[in-house]
Amino acid sequence: MLMQVLNKTRCLIILCLASNFLFGFSNRAYAKRGDEKAIDGKVRQLLSKMTLEEKIGQMTQINILVVSNKTSSQRNQLNAEKLREAIVKYHVGSILNVNDTAYSINYWHSVIKEIEDVATKQTRLKIPVIYGIDAIHGANYTKDATVFPQPINMAATFNPELVKREGEITALEVRASGMPWIFYPVMDLGRQPLWPRLYETFGEDVYLASTMGKEYIEGVQGNDIGSPDKVAVCLKHFAGYSFPLDGKDRTPAWIPERMMKEYFLPPFHEGVKAGAMTVMVNSSEVNGIPGHSNYHLLTEVLKNKWKFKGFVVSDWQDIERLYTRDKVASSPEEAVKMAVIAGVDMSMVPSDFSFYNILLKLVKEGQVPMRRINDAVGRILKVKYELGLFDNSYPDEKLESRFASPSSEKTNLQASEESITLVKNDGNILPLKRNIKVLVTGPAADKLSCLNGGWTITWQGDDDSVYPKDKPTVLEAIQQKIGEDNVMFIPGATFDSLLDVNAAVAAAEKADAVVLCLGEKAYAETPGNIDDLSLDDAQIKLARAVMPAGKPVVLVMLEGRPRVINKIVEGSKAILIGFLPGMEGGRAFANIIFGDANPSAKLPVTYPRFPNALYHYDYTPMEDEDGNSYNPQWDFGFGLSYTTFNYSDLTLDKGKINRRESITASVKVTNTGKAAGKEVVQLYIRDLYASIELPEKRLEGFDKIFLEPGETKQVKFVIKPGQLSFIGRDNKRIIEPGKFKVMISNLSQEFVLE
Ligand code: BGC
Repeated sequence: MLMQVLNKTRCLIILCLASNFLFGFSNRAYAKRGDEKAIDGKVRQLLSKMTLEEKIGQMTQINILVVSNKTSSQRNQLNAEKLREAIVKYHVGSILNVNDTAYSINYWHSVIKEIEDVATKQTRLKIPVIYGIDAIHGANYTKDATVFPQPINMAATFNPELVKREGEITALEVRASGMPWIFYPVMDLGRQPLWPRLYETFGEDVYLASTMGKEYIEGVQGNDIGSPDKVAVCLKHFAGYSFPLDGKDRTPAWIPERMMKEYFLPPFHEGVKAGAMTVMVNSSEVNGIPGHSNYHLLTEVLKNKWKFKGFVVSDWQDIERLYTRDKVASSPEEAVKMAVIAGVDMSMVPSDFSFYNILLKLVKEGQVPMRRINDAVGRILKVKYELGLFDNSYPDEKLESRFASPSSEKTNLQASEESITLVKNDGNILPLKRNIKVLVTGPAADKLSCLNGGWTITWQGDDDSVYPKDKPTVLEAIQQKIGEDNVMFIPGATFDSLLDVNAAVAAAEKADAVVLCLGEKAYAETPGNIDDLSLDDAQIKLARAVMPAGKPVVLVMLEGRPRVINKIVEGSKAILIGFLPGMEGGRAFANIIFGDANPSAKLPVTYPRFPNALYHYDYTPMEDEDGNSYNPQWDFGFGLSYTTFNYSDLTLDKGKINRRESITASVKVTNTGKAAGKEVVQLYIRDLYASIELPEKRLEGFDKIFLEPGETKQVKFVIKPGQLSFIGRDNKRIIEPGKFKVMISNLSQEFVLE
């Protein structure tokens, strides 16, 4: 075998074919050919008229608080004097964020109008301000917007069309609020389950995250970014942020170059190819190099190699942190110089004008070259032109009538239903009958915040008093479904301590079934750090207290990451992993539990069984030499349905291919159960012998299909040669001849690459 490997190593082929995830150039969304040239001309002209101060102002982004009154009675009001100071004196090019809670659409309009009035009427060159906002799962900072499931759920739908629709609706609702720029999608891979931002990702797999990210970008930016209902995206957080060694937010990642290129860079590259207009920098460090000082990634890879034409924005206060936190700069001046030279074009300062003052001084002293400033400002202006802001940077009142429409709500409900994964259903206990008495219990049962998580109305998303009154929690949706008289509710516990457990047990004895809603309270970023992936003791105790009542327990998990629940899996008859299914999550659960919707989600991450045995589905043979070491609670890609599917006739159109040829796999899928349902057909590939240890399998295609009972469909996948490649020992992408195995469900076929 060793000889075989060595022979193969000798005939490595450096891959130079254009393939889905490897090469290709940015595909900007222009209405007409020639538009880009015209815009570049305008940018050059405007740059030639700008003073150094005006240029540096464009590179400065401040928080809305800086230009607001801070007294509690007026906390949402802009302060005209401060606003004028920021835009006229400091020439600020961008503002971000909300003060505390989501604004109404009308209030947003007044904010944006006031800002643009100053920028386009009171400044010399009338350059519009670009307002940026976090829109992680819909327009989450506008009141009553369509608030979707969190990204981890959108990944679980394995339905790219839904993700694209989400993108379209989000763009419309953000633009209807008057803003042209969102800080999403997160293209970081969710491969560290402890990380409190896991739910902002599209899961652990490169192919899934790349596919979903690309669809989302296409939905948000469309094919004409100048249209009034489109906004610019921001890929974040470039790159390696999501893999902290200790699982805590904003702590070091160790990622060797080979793994960076194999796992963490490709989703970003896909996003750039899909035309993403902006990129945000990794707020943390990789291999000791803070993201904001990483010239190699920001300039050599992103801008030079990938030909990214948009601009790079820092994350919150992170340039200053090169000095205050990371100590790679010995002064605030050195920090600014380091970041700008590394390739950061705009600083999310965000609380003062320090960046402006420092950079001005550095350029005057010749420490930062004018060429770099012109490049950065040119990129920012280009995005502003592309978005049509120079023609009109004011809110478009006409869009309001399409905001939070019934059809968007319907899409949202569908997304929510398709994002909840059924992982256990002993004896087909689900769906439950409606003429029964149900006990609903657990700390997550009656909280909209538990369905939505962070970045919902407020940053932490944990203030239930500001949530819409017309959206049902899990409890309320069950009450609506089977009648209040048939539902008992006892919370039983908070997230971390026991409450009325005895009452819950007594109620369980009287009930026909128990819906036990456990999980996490809402959080975002660092406040969501944990020391233990296991679900809190109090909740486990509540579960173990109600189980002996002998009534079937349907466990509903609402969580931003896969908390370990091995102690209560056996005692639960059915388990639904809900993650954070969004504002329609309550209804989605009730529909699934009582059979009005058939679950079709698949896990987008490997669900761990133990807190110290954290696997990914693409583990290598070494991790499972004895055949039973790899034992997660549930696999990536796993999820049950109320019907059953049978796979047959997996065929490949060729037995041998060369490195320029594609190969087509086809398989037949039959709905062998009694209910109509959707199935995610997943194609995995394995390179059987390679010069490095490769994963047992890697996802290289999926297709979600709908089948009536008894119906059969044939599904085809075209595998491109690039999909057989990997990053080799010398950190270059290669493709090696040899045998490959194609796996779909329990079927497999082999072919040879010559
Ligand atoms: C987060 C970013 C976010 C930014 C602006 C930062 O703390 O890391 O993801 O876009 O704040 O709110």
